[in-house]
Amino acid sequence: APRNPSTDEQISSPLQVFGQAKKQINSIFVDIQEYVTDASERMIDVNKICPDVIVENELKFILDYRFKVKGICEVLTRDHMKVAFFGRTSNGKSTVVNAMLGEKVLPSGIGHTTNCFLQVEGSQTGDAYLVTEGSNEKQNVESVTHLAHALNYEKQLNEKELVHVYWPKDKCSLLRDDVALVDSPGVDVTPHLDDWIDAHCIDADVFVLVANAESTLMVTEKNFFHKVSTKLSKPNIFILHNRWDASANEPEFLDQVRKQHMDRATDFLVKELKVCTPEEAVSRVFFISAKEVLLARVKERNGQALNSEALAEGFSARYMEFEEFEHRFEECISKSAIKTKFLNHSQQGKHLVKDMCSIMEKVYNRSKELTHSKMCQQKEFQEKLNFTEQQLVCITNQMKMKIHQMVDDVEDKVSKALND
Ligand code: GTP
Ligand code: MG
Repeated sequence: APRNPSTDEQISSPLQVFGQAKKQINSIFVDIQEYVTDASERMIDVNKICPDVIVENELKFILDYRFKVKGICEVLTRDHMKVAFFGRTSNGKSTVVNAMLGEKVLPSGIGHTTNCFLQVEGSQTGDAYLVTEGSNEKQNVESVTHLAHALNYEKQLNEKELVHVYWPKDKCSLLRDDVALVDSPGVDVTPHLDDWIDAHCIDADVFVLVANAESTLMVTEKNFFHKVSTKLSKPNIFILHNRWDASANEPEFLDQVRKQHMDRATDFLVKELKVCTPEEAVSRVFFISAKEVLLARVKERNGQALNSEALAEGFSARYMEFEEFEHRFEECISKSAIKTKFLNHSQQGKHLVKDMCSIMEKVYNRSKELTHSKMCQQKEFQEKLNFTEQQLVCITNQMKMKIHQMVDDVEDKVSKALND
């Protein structure tokens, strides 16, 4: 496995680069937080003893920075990579999410199944539970049937609503590495595409369009991504032609159909959306069968043998293509999330530290000037004292002499008078 030169830790997936970057930036911000807290406490003390040294605004800035840094630290610990899945109803979005998770987490099935946005992320506690929008209540989830029931019947959910599904991290490496997967209702069942994008897509690092290999890219699917790319500059989009197992029924047309889909999908990404180059586009388009991958992974997890006779011709190639997609996806999401999530924070951190330094420098210089002028004043005062002292000595001496003279004079006069 490759190593990360900056930490010298082993990396088994590109996703871990994000985790390491997160750890590093977190520890930098913990240091900044200590520095800001320390600096603000000292400033408060100095301000009490010597209010002339610190200008009111400076103290306010330093205290504000304390809250700013705390805010950034909180956001950083919550930061994760986010992938959102879109496509027409029944194309297999939920099945793709389940295949990537390696087990049946989300309800899937024929007809319109997913009726709201579902965000699957790692659970800190190790329990599986869900939280609906605007509520803090953790509803336990024991099984997919239970989840489906909770989503369909226990609460009337709005299609725009987001339900968080927290799933044990130890069950899936994607969740362990901080990836959140967002499943959506079919793009064809809503007139509210704009609201969806604003509410759920603005912070997505990667979009996956789950298309149906048995048909072609649909206008509603294309429209959705046209809207996304007007709101986000160069979104990262993968296109999965799902249900590719169906191609096994018509092997004579396989290459021809694949080429047709590939050309349309790459044209869509390169010429219509202009989100990538032709070379990049080829590694963004895949032909897969999520149903097969899910089946194989569930069987493997349960220690059961995979009955290859029940699978359509070409299963291994499709499985490998799914793994290739996962690898490209991991590289892409990790790179993009590091840039979008941490670049901003590290720039904010740099500005903050620079501003703090400049304030501290100003305070330091002002205190130096004040000390200097006090010392000068003291010196001047000392010199004056010395001079006065000298003067006093002189005057005293003169007085002494005069008094002696006067005494002598008086003595002289008295003795003269006595003689006379
Ligand atoms: P909605 O949530 O209703 O929008 O649908 P969806 O896009 O989430 O589709 P879902 O994953 O529920 O799959 C719909 C049906 O297609 C299910 O019965 C799946 O078993 C089936 N399906 C999904 N992927 C594949 C595949 O690769 N091949 C085949 N043959 N069937 C699939
Ligand atoms: Mg679904």
